[in-house]
Amino acid sequence: MSPTAAALATSRSLLGLQNMARAEIAGLLSRARAGEPERSLAGRLMANLFFEDSTRTMTSFSVAAKRLGMQTINLRGAASSVSKGETLVDTALNVEAMGVDALVVRARQSGAAVGIARAVKCAVINAGDGRHEHPTQGLLDAYTLAESHGRLEDFDLAGLTVAIVGDIASSRVARSNIAGLGALGANVVCVGPPGLAPASLKSLGCEVSADLDGLLPVIDAVMVLRMQFERHDEEGGEKKPEGDRRSAMIASVRDYRELYAMTPARAERMKKGAVVMHPGPMNRGLEIDAEVADGPRSVILRQVTNGARVRMAVLGWCLGRDG
Ligand code: CP
Repeated sequence: MSPTAAALATSRSLLGLQNMARAEIAGLLSRARAGEPERSLAGRLMANLFFEDSTRTMTSFSVAAKRLGMQTINLRGAASSVSKGETLVDTALNVEAMGVDALVVRARQSGAAVGIARAVKCAVINAGDGRHEHPTQGLLDAYTLAESHGRLEDFDLAGLTVAIVGDIASSRVARSNIAGLGALGANVVCVGPPGLAPASLKSLGCEVSADLDGLLPVIDAVMVLRMQFERHDEEGGEKKPEGDRRSAMIASVRDYRELYAMTPARAERMKKGAVVMHPGPMNRGLEIDAEVADGPRSVILRQVTNGARVRMAVLGWCLGRDG
């Protein structure tokens, strides 16, 4: 069944949080809190177009779509005709031509989802584009932070300070969180060595610090980021070999751990009620230790659980008639 003109007229895209107003973000989170009616999108079709690997996001969108009664298609980049030279936009146009209502797009290129949204008529949801944005991760992180601090009623995060720690330069999650948490009133501090947390990040509306140990006693949440070695020192867009941990962005892994790893000793110095977050996938023993990831402050699996709820709300918002 192809999308009707009426369905297309009511569809909209979620490409990033950077240009969304506080009311719109809080509205989406309220929609997630209320819970999307089961099977409310029965008969509609969602396609995951994942040109970059994923465990959480792709599965979570599939779970969300199935709970809404949608049918789903999964296309992984390596198994698609992109490997034969077809462009991402041509791939999207072809999948849309089969009658898809929503395309969920992940790609290594910043701006890929925006480019596809310009070319197609159906809804496009950015599931992570290069170093640019990962809006549904930003939304589920805001939801989880509000949940852990008793702010689910209005999603007002004023008075909370969140430290985003580590490889911020490579991180689309950080950019969506700086925008989303900031819009909801939280104070966001990006923390890391200058190569990973450059002062230029201040232009996004956050603070920047190199002193995690000084911040630990005053922050309400620490969001630990994965060290994305594969994005460091990319030469002409070429992917680094898997497992290559060399990087010009840090002096050494040992030096990085000394100042920025979330160790049990650092978790102990956080104040009562402060939580530890990580978007995944984690490098256990590098940016976060197992005792912290699995410890009492961790809300990492709550983030994953909330992801499906938030993505149901996003699909409802993109495709529903009531907005
Ligand atoms: N957080 C996140 O985007 O995880 P995946 O890469 O597994 O989707």
